[in-house]
Amino acid sequence: MNITSVYVARLPEPGPLTFETYDLREEATPELDDREILIRVIYLSVDAGSRGMLDDRGAYVLKLKPGMQAIGTGAVGEVVESRHPDFPIGSFAATIFARWGSHMKAAPDDPASPVFAVDPQVAPLDAHLGALGLTGFTAYTGIFLNLPLAAGETAVISAAAGAVGAVAGQYAKIRGARVIGIAGGSDKCEYVRSLGFDDCIDYRSDLEAGLRRACPDGIDFYFENVGGDIQRLVLSMMRRYGRMSFCGQIAQYAGEGEPPGPNLMRVVLQELTLKGFLCMPTYTEKFGQFRAETMAWLKEGRVRHDSSVIYGLENAHEAVNALSAGRNVGKQLIQVAVDPTAQ
Ligand SMILES: NC(=O)c1ccc[n+]([C@@H]2O[C@H](COP(=O)([O-])OP(=O)(O)OC[C@H]3O[C@@H](n4cnc5c(N)ncnc54)[C@H](OP(=O)(O)O)[C@@H]3O)[C@@H](O)[C@H]2O)c1
Repeated sequence: MNITSVYVARLPEPGPLTFETYDLREEATPELDDREILIRVIYLSVDAGSRGMLDDRGAYVLKLKPGMQAIGTGAVGEVVESRHPDFPIGSFAATIFARWGSHMKAAPDDPASPVFAVDPQVAPLDAHLGALGLTGFTAYTGIFLNLPLAAGETAVISAAAGAVGAVAGQYAKIRGARVIGIAGGSDKCEYVRSLGFDDCIDYRSDLEAGLRRACPDGIDFYFENVGGDIQRLVLSMMRRYGRMSFCGQIAQYAGEGEPPGPNLMRVVLQELTLKGFLCMPTYTEKFGQFRAETMAWLKEGRVRHDSSVIYGLENAHEAVNALSAGRNVGKQLIQVAVDPTAQ
């Protein structure tokens, strides 16, 4: 049997990826060592970083070069070969990091690349890459672990209709905050409100007036995903002792350069705390706690998971472009094979 793997063929120019960015290669099925498994991938995670990793001038945490296999934050699929007693053939498994391809060899006992068994009766397979995967863990870290957020405070979340932002806002509601999302377009804002956010501002048509209307007394807590104009405005509206939890800066991942920095005098005058985070490896030991709590909240309907799917490894570049252009709602995925558990 052959497998298909996705390699970086060439680094893109600034802006959208093209079909030439990736190269699909047929390869021999890898041999398994003791306690390893082979997963037939059903869904692959596409992340804001999928574009950032292809910008060799940018500041993203990881960089890919031509000839390297493309990677993402997770794959979920069916175990088709197994030398591990806890992962029998026919069961389902999810990973936190994944090399893009039709199959993935995994070593569940290796703490550096965690793999967990998933039960499709408990949550749909795709949720293990979204609310229950590294995406959800990023939101959990930014709301519960990085900086304090108190009940009754006003929290603002940017990229609120995206995978991390949508879950972050729902966590902020669980915390008891008043939560305002920022997203691109009225349909997306409607979606964000349907998740339980108190309001959502369309940054394409109504950023400054909308945010001032929604936060008349200012902002206590900001979950920062994008940077640029949104960041500058939010900073100017922060209340005394406010906190800014820095998750990412997606506005600068597409190779188009860094937007001008904000005036930080407000940090002094309002005595603000700004703190960035990398959910892994810094908070890895909290991953089990995050999964258990979020699983319970999903069952109770307090957290909802949604995903946007693009079919086929040959369309990987389109999946990355969809996310950069904001065409995704919730978690962006590549569907690689039929999901036998989907209704
Ligand atoms: N720190 C960590 O440990 C960690 C881990 C994983 C991810 N992250 C960060 O989490 C953030 C979200 O990533 P994700 O993978 O979940 O992606 P996502 O939020 O699902 O998708 C990105 C969204 O960002 C918005 N966007 C794109 N360009 C924008 C721009 N120039 N200005 C404003 N909004 C823009 C788009 O929505 P609109 O239509 O609303 O524009 C798009 O849907 C990223 O900043 C990423 O780097 C951090």
